[in-house]
Amino acid sequence: MSSFSDRILRWYQQHARALPWRGHSDSYAVWVSEIMLQQTRVETVVPYFESWMIQFPSIEALANTSEQMVLSAWEGLGYYSRARNLHKAARMVVLEFDGRLPQEIPQLRKLPGIGRYTAAAIASIAFHQDVATLDGNLRRIFARVFDISTPADSPPGEEILWGLAQENLPVGRAGDYNQALMDLGSSICVPKKPLCSYCPLNDLCLARSFPENRPVLKPKKPVPHKLKMAAVIIKNEMVLLAIHPSRGLLGGLWEFPSVAVEISTPRAMIDGIENEYQLKVQPVSYLEEIHHAYTHFTLAEIAWRCDLVENPMDERLKWVPLSELEQFPMGKVDRTIAERIQ
Ligand code: ADE
Repeated sequence: MSSFSDRILRWYQQHARALPWRGHSDSYAVWVSEIMLQQTRVETVVPYFESWMIQFPSIEALANTSEQMVLSAWEGLGYYSRARNLHKAARMVVLEFDGRLPQEIPQLRKLPGIGRYTAAAIASIAFHQDVATLDGNLRRIFARVFDISTPADSPPGEEILWGLAQENLPVGRAGDYNQALMDLGSSICVPKKPLCSYCPLNDLCLARSFPENRPVLKPKKPVPHKLKMAAVIIKNEMVLLAIHPSRGLLGGLWEFPSVAVEISTPRAMIDGIENEYQLKVQPVSYLEEIHHAYTHFTLAEIAWRCDLVENPMDERLKWVPLSELEQFPMGKVDRTIAERIQ
């Protein structure tokens, strides 16, 4: 065993976090946890994982539920395509693999939502295969310990780092090794001000005197800012909602009819909503402005109470009782508006 893996495994024995998906022999639980943990912190994931496993305890249970139930269970975790893909993949597993998650990496990777990282994480943790994986945390650790100056987010940099992860893997212990590195990367080898004096790899680390200079990353593009206006239309205790087309960022979720604008004037909303939904509205009073940061853009959304000039025809629109709004899955911005009007 290399002294790298020796140290990391010994550290893990003492410091592994007790997480609800660890020690599960159920590969479905490992799969769900890895999808939830893509882009989301462990602390946020734990309560979602626990209620998910009660609501959908098996692949079959997940496959048999509706996309709306799945999106409601996921509400608040963000990146909703993860939930839609997990649901779709569960249906494929039932149809093609008799309800059992396949063990081989090429088959895992054919399932929607499972890429190189997640396939290797599942294969090592759930199926005890000797495969390394590499997420943002592991990439940072290998770039630091081995002082890799090739940009970690470039194809050659990625290959170097995947290679280091695999070369240092202790045979028979890949699941623990991968999870030990995940824990180390989120508790000690953190991006800013890493706690090097607590690190089991400290004296091996070639970047220990300049950890914040590794990994080298390509310069980030500026994040665009979007402005939207939303129409809150209430009539006889019913509110008008619109469903997002099921492929986009918030696909399958509900929203207040809204439109992207250049400047947030009532006129821009009247014209925009008419153009988008063939819906004639009359803004009545300003409600609130909500800000949210997505990965690729930031959003300011301005909500107005509106009256309806003509009845809606668009099939994306639906009248919903005000008292039942929580049954309709929504992103954070629209949920904030919904809570306000309730
Ligand atoms: N991040 C992604 N997968 C993880 C896991 N299995 N344990 C802890 N953090 C993780």
